Amino acid sequence: SNQNILLYLAAFILAGIPFGYLLAKQFAGVDIKQAGSGNIGATNVLRVVKEKDPKLAKKLGAITLFLDAIKGIVVILIAKYLGAPEGVLWTIAVLAVLGHCFSIFLAFEGGKGVATGFGVLLVMMPIPALIAIVVWLVAAKGLKISSISSLIGLIAFIIASYVIYPEVPGITSHAPIWIIAFVIFYKHIPNIIRLFKKEEGKV
Ligand code: G3P
Repeated sequence: SNQNILLYLAAFILAGIPFGYLLAKQFAGVDIKQAGSGNIGATNVLRVVKEKDPKLAKKLGAITLFLDAIKGIVVILIAKYLGAPEGVLWTIAVLAVLGHCFSIFLAFEGGKGVATGFGVLLVMMPIPALIAIVVWLVAAKGLKISSISSLIGLIAFIIASYVIYPEVPGITSHAPIWIIAFVIFYKHIPNIIRLFKKEEGKV
């Protein structure tokens, strides 16, 4: 329907807003696309701004994480309020991750989908997402490497989603989860290469 198409467009466009890039530029005067990993996510905000001001870095990193997570959630909640079926909600979830990772505001470059992905998954599958966040936190604390912790958290989510939801309510398969996972993995290929070369930076 027309309403669904508007929701899909809203999801893709809104998720393209590169909050990390904008906040770091506005409040720390740095271009995070040209520094650190070059990524626009919370990790790179923390990494790059830290060199100037560690306290500000933590603040901006946390706000980036929050806004990047919320921007996908908002459209799902609007759709839910309008009574959209599960299939539409999952499509919005996928489009939000794609919109963040291939931002229309950055000539279809963008982030790595971790915050936006976990945000939408938290709404769609709260328990598996909470398990994944706990795994992510433990991994991040132990390893101090953001990328590998994100990927371990993602694997934990996929496993938990099958254990807790052998059938996904309202849709026929786990396909949206695999699409989100594939995009996040694809965007982490440079990190995986750096990990093998033992060049991946800690945070
Ligand atoms: O959230 C993205 C994270 O997993 C990796 O970020 O900046 O280390 O490439 P970064």
